[in-house]
Amino acid sequence: MRIGVFDSGLGGLLIAQSIIKRLPQYDYLYLGDTKRVPYGNRSQKTIHEFISQALDYLFKSDCELIILACNTASAEALRKSQQEYLPRNYPDRRVLGVVIPMAEAAVEALSAGKEMAGAGTRSAGPVGSLSADISATRVGVLATASTVESGAYARELNRVRPGIVVVQNPAPLLVPLVENDGFKYVGPVLDDYLAPLRERQIDSLILGCTHYAALKDQIREQISVPVISPDEVVPEKLADYLERHPEIESKLSKKASRTYEVTDLTESYYALARRLAGKDVDLQLTSLS
Ligand code: DGL
Repeated sequence: MRIGVFDSGLGGLLIAQSIIKRLPQYDYLYLGDTKRVPYGNRSQKTIHEFISQALDYLFKSDCELIILACNTASAEALRKSQQEYLPRNYPDRRVLGVVIPMAEAAVEALSAGKEMAGAGTRSAGPVGSLSADISATRVGVLATASTVESGAYARELNRVRPGIVVVQNPAPLLVPLVENDGFKYVGPVLDDYLAPLRERQIDSLILGCTHYAALKDQIREQISVPVISPDEVVPEKLADYLERHPEIESKLSKKASRTYEVTDLTESYYALARRLAGKDVDLQLTSLS
């Protein structure tokens, strides 16, 4: 049985590649719904419908465990998938999202930052707040419009650490800039998106979208708080999950195979996939219906 990695498109390749690097022994099936990307400005109902189709496809393709690498899908459809779709269709299999691990990582970074507060890690905050209780700290989130509207990050961050103030900003232009190799235009756009987060003196920043991992170095240059990037968090959290769930891990086959499937395939998708994930990525066309 394989590990499925789902994304609305190709940004999830950044996460898939980092998972594969961390856990190379397993067999992977990546599915990118390139025919219907972007998900980031769609309704919850539509996203849920798309995710149910993707889960059907991945489970029928022998996936034991599916990672929704897509933040929008995790934010809008994970809970319903776990509470309704799985018990009805595949009660023994698992779907994991990225919002909870990212929220946990952000809180862990805050705790680490607090210990080091005397060393001046919180450069953006007022001096008095360095010794403030952690519940008064502020976490910034950059994400798609649907992820922001879903309130999933605010909910999960407050579940992990009640009282945290969550400052969110939708950053719709970053996905097309990454997809169109527009890195040289990112600086001022990013500056604009980061400005309200700086103003609110955030203590750490969650990159709540697959594509933003491609911009993490630039973002770290433009803001001086810990930046939580999904490609760095998700592989560790998955390794930890598999260690804690031997009943799932033991069902996973270990032939180190990788298959990358997409629902629409053009030359530019090929080029993007190779730019994001390297020359070895061979995309195959498939259909979810
Ligand atoms: N993969 C999506 C996410 O992580 C970004 C692209 C989209 O809008 O579909 O939120």
